[in-house]
Amino acid sequence: MSEMTAILSWKGEYKMGDSFLLNGKETPFQQGQTILEAAKNGGVEIPTLCYLKGSAPTGACRICCVEVKGARSLVAACSTPVTPGMEVFTDSELVHRARKMNVEFLLASGKHNCLMCESNGNCRLQDLAYFYKITKLKFPEKDEKEIYPIEDVNPFIIRDFSRCILCGRCVQACNEVVVNRAISQGYRGKKSKIVTGGDAAYNDDLSECVFCGQCVEVCPVGALTEKKAKGLGRPWETQKIRTTCPYCGVGCQQWLHVKDGKIIKVTAVEDAQPNQGRLCVKGRFAYDFIYSEERLKTPLIREKNGEFRTASWDETLDLVADKFKEIIKKDGPDAIAGVSCARSINEDSYQMQKFFRAVLGTNNIDHCART
Ligand code: FES
Repeated sequence: MSEMTAILSWKGEYKMGDSFLLNGKETPFQQGQTILEAAKNGGVEIPTLCYLKGSAPTGACRICCVEVKGARSLVAACSTPVTPGMEVFTDSELVHRARKMNVEFLLASGKHNCLMCESNGNCRLQDLAYFYKITKLKFPEKDEKEIYPIEDVNPFIIRDFSRCILCGRCVQACNEVVVNRAISQGYRGKKSKIVTGGDAAYNDDLSECVFCGQCVEVCPVGALTEKKAKGLGRPWETQKIRTTCPYCGVGCQQWLHVKDGKIIKVTAVEDAQPNQGRLCVKGRFAYDFIYSEERLKTPLIREKNGEFRTASWDETLDLVADKFKEIIKKDGPDAIAGVSCARSINEDSYQMQKFFRAVLGTNNIDHCART
């Protein structure tokens, strides 16, 4: 190792000479990387279900299992660090047999009737079952009586426990990504369930849930789905359009899922600044205001009798200009103040302050940080 590479490696970052054998091919890796990460960098995708980028790996689903030469059993690629010289096989018969059996166990652990599932076409378990050509269940399905009933009581999220594979991604998203700590793994054995505090419904007073929907975002199956999108369209029928959230000034990146020109749901753009795959309750669920019958589409002017009447933009702007002139003449420009909207783009906010400072002659200008 040269002096320069030794210096670069002091933080545990890339160190020249660190490599392992990935399916027989010499592959470099960075110190601290898991087999999953190093394999991805080496161009080999390993399937995952419970792995959630940016969270501590739980190794719960074992779908990412790989063979490591010398290891007593298959290991979880998502939680096993690579070491120099390690020999890893991601594509062996043993690996595929184990993965297929894991999928068969997961399919038997609930009722996964894809035809009626909202996540049909957007389900990792379905993809894996398809890949392994699983046409019938190998193990007996969980008894109907042992499955918790669907929870449909809150306005945004449907929890269908018959489709939950207990991967724990929702728990990690809640606890580690958005840090609301509203849900966790509850009970044991056949009674295992993702629970809120006190096993209350999501919208119960006992629950800490703030309805950000991050759990829905990361659910790899159809256990958690958006209530408002139910029955409105399949993934292959919708177009995904990237946009910036219209609420506060943070500028979170969203995907609008649009069918026939209408938004049917909103999800976060993964790996994009500033939200990195996160959204708040407003950004994710409060998009239907644009279709509201009550939405204002023209200016309203209040008459002397207190009633509003619709007006044209020309009439409205003339009225505002006259009022500004009247106030400035009587009490000076500092009698006027402006608050720009947090939903405005930077350019509009800039123009607003310029107008107040340069045209009206006051520094009474602010920006509302909250909506
Ligand atoms: Fe590795 Fe689930 S993805 S154990």
